[in-house]
Amino acid sequence: MRADRNSYWMESAPPGGLHPPLDRDLSADVVVVGAGIAGLSTARALARAGRDVVVLEAGRIAAGVTGHTTGKLTSLHGMCYERLRRRQGAEAAALYADAQENALREVVRLCEELGVDAEIEHRPAYTYTLDEERAGDVRAEAAAASAAGLRASAVTDTGLPYPVAAAVRVEDQLQFHPRRFLLGLAADLVAHGGRVHENTRVTDLHEGAECRLTVEGGHTVHARDVVLATHFPLRCHTTLLMRLSLHRELVVAAAVEERHDPHGMYLTPEHGTRSVRTAPLGDGRRLLIVAGESFEPGSGGVRARYERLETWAREQLPGFAEAPTVHRWAAQDIHTADGLPCIGHEHPDTEHVFIATGFGGWGLSNGVAAGALLTAHLTGAPRPAWTELVDPRRRLPGREVPGVVRHQATVARHFVGGLRTGRRCTHMGCELGFNEAEQTWECPCHGSRFAADGRVLQGPATRPLEM
Ligand SMILES: Cc1cc2nc3c(=O)[nH]c(=O)nc-3n(C[C@H](O)[C@H](O)[C@H](O)COP(=O)(O)OP(=O)(O)OC[C@H]3O[C@@H](n4cnc5c(N)ncnc54)[C@H](O)[C@@H]3O)c2cc1C
Ligand code: FES
Repeated sequence: MRADRNSYWMESAPPGGLHPPLDRDLSADVVVVGAGIAGLSTARALARAGRDVVVLEAGRIAAGVTGHTTGKLTSLHGMCYERLRRRQGAEAAALYADAQENALREVVRLCEELGVDAEIEHRPAYTYTLDEERAGDVRAEAAAASAAGLRASAVTDTGLPYPVAAAVRVEDQLQFHPRRFLLGLAADLVAHGGRVHENTRVTDLHEGAECRLTVEGGHTVHARDVVLATHFPLRCHTTLLMRLSLHRELVVAAAVEERHDPHGMYLTPEHGTRSVRTAPLGDGRRLLIVAGESFEPGSGGVRARYERLETWAREQLPGFAEAPTVHRWAAQDIHTADGLPCIGHEHPDTEHVFIATGFGGWGLSNGVAAGALLTAHLTGAPRPAWTELVDPRRRLPGREVPGVVRHQATVARHFVGGLRTGRRCTHMGCELGFNEAEQTWECPCHGSRFAADGRVLQGPATRPLEM
């Protein structure tokens, strides 16, 4: 079977305007570092509010994790509502649901207002189990999601071609083309005076009465406020660093006949997660997109994982086996110890540096919500009700400590491994693992990725490997 290694979203969107690399020193009201969904949502809203905004992007806009997602825009995030209710209370679950639903409405509103064709389709979202013993948990999730304000119910009929033991169904969720949406945001940002510099990697941030950022090549940008929307924060306070962990996932996609569309968006945490949706191809067929095989970056065996995912898709989803072309791509996301994102002041003593990270596999709605929250911080507008819930400075509840300790033990093991082997990450020195399928060096500690020739592909590292 022929396979294309690029993300479908990267291939099927117009190239977008080219933005020049930074070639001089600049100043601005706000610098946003990173042009993914969190950075561009924030920068566009700030420009519309009259702020002088500069966006600095290490690569191309909308080409990071957001350009390699599955493009589900939903408030149903796996099994999060019952956990939130149990651990943080019913109000926290309702605040979280409300922030996500607002984000969905905002995407629809923006696409209409800006005339962006982001291929939005309204679909129900499902989280399901095949395991009778877990059916009770899924029904409890449906009840918690409903109590949190979502139009959620427990069902067994999902439209999937195989039976499930139980599923949560949430009505009227969205699937879209994430890159087309971001290109629309970037165009509006520029139309309202924002400046964007691609191929401009920030290597240093100095915080003072005025913040100073240094980019590769030595130019500097001065600004009163800085938003680090770099996925893994470019700079990160130790207590926050310890709470963040990485999961890499694989995606395979094939063009199938329309009759094979199950007409929903699906997720099961089983088999190392399986996520399914379709996208319009414009020729009467649908692209059937399947994601899964969550694993620690650098842990190897990636070809075998692709095989396992494709075999599952061929066996479970009619049409996939006959499809002549398959796309394959991969990406990783950042998870937090308490399952909530970190959006707000980077650390307790900072007034002017903000971050948006830890989206836990759900950064499309959370990235848009982050844009609204950070814009409120930076313009003095009333802050959304969930501000405290996602404040990066929040205390770590005692019950989350064992998970953090386990992750830190892994980090320590990879750090010691790095001292022994010599192929060390340029961020903090952990031992790198080689991903034979993508021909990249990957760091299990905080997710930096390097090309085979040593170039930085993904931070937080900013320096290439010594080859
Ligand atoms: C396989 C997979 C599927 C997913 N599917 C979904 C889904 O269906 N729905 C959903 O809600 N979420 C999904 N997610 C999660 C979601 O895609 C992410 O949480 C979200 O895209 C993160 O957005 P971001 O803006 O933080 O990061 P990014 O999109 O990665 O943007 C960060 C940008 O910062 C730039 N940058 C980094 N360092 C620097 C630097 N030093 N200087 C300048 N620029 C820098 C990068 O180049 C990048 O462009 C998925 C994640 C994965 C891994
Ligand atoms: S040590 Fe932090 S990313 Fe490698």
